[in-house]
Amino acid sequence: MAELEALLDTRIRSIPDWPVPGVVFRDITPLLADPAGIPAVVEGIATALTAAGVHGADLVAGVEARGFILGAPLAVGLGVGFVPVRKEGKLPGDVHAESYDLEYGQATLEVQVGAVASGHRVVLVDDVLATGGTAAAAVNLLRAAGAEVLALVCLLELPALGGRERLDVPVIALRAV
Ligand code: PRP
Ligand code: ADE
Repeated sequence: MAELEALLDTRIRSIPDWPVPGVVFRDITPLLADPAGIPAVVEGIATALTAAGVHGADLVAGVEARGFILGAPLAVGLGVGFVPVRKEGKLPGDVHAESYDLEYGQATLEVQVGAVASGHRVVLVDDVLATGGTAAAAVNLLRAAGAEVLALVCLLELPALGGRERLDVPVIALRAV
C-alpha cells in the first residue's frame, strides 16, 4: 500500500486556481499515462475493498468522466459488469436524474431505468471525493434504479470539504490530501 500511495503522490498533479480561482485541481492525467498506474489502482482498490469487508459485488458503477476510466478496469478486475452514471442527456430511454452542486459548479447525473437488477450490490467509483455532491447524487440514483450501494471508492479524498459526512455508505479512499 505504501508503494501505491507513493505512486498517487507522484502521479497526481495539483493545479492551483483551476478551473476557478481558489480551487486546487487534482489532475490524475499523469497517473493514467503511467503504464503502471491503472493496474496499481485496480489492485489497490480490490485490496482495500477486501480489507474493508466489502465482498460480493455484482456491479461496478462509475461517474462520468473520470469514474469511467477507473471503473471499467475495476469491473474487469472484479469480474463483474459496469454501470455508467452519466452527465445529463447522454443516455437513451427512461432515466433517473438528480441535480447537485460540486466544488466548482453544478451538474445533473443520470442512470438508466433498469440499469441495475433489483437488489444488486454495487461498488461506486470515482477519482476524487470533494464536497460529496457528485457521490451523494450517484448513490441516490443507483438506489432509485434498485441497487444496494456497498461503498464509494475514490483515489483521493479532500477531507476539508466534508464529502464523507454527506454520504451514508462506507467511503474507501486510497489517499487523503
Ligand atoms: C469531478 C470528480 C468527481 C467530482 C467530485 O468531476 O471527477 O466526480 O468532481 O466533486 P464533488 O465531491 O465536489 O462533487 P467533474 O464533475 O469535474 O467531471 P469530469 O470527471 O467530467 O471532469
Ligand atoms: N472534483 C471536485 N473537486 C476537485 C478537485 N479539487 N480536483 C479534481 N477534481 C475535483
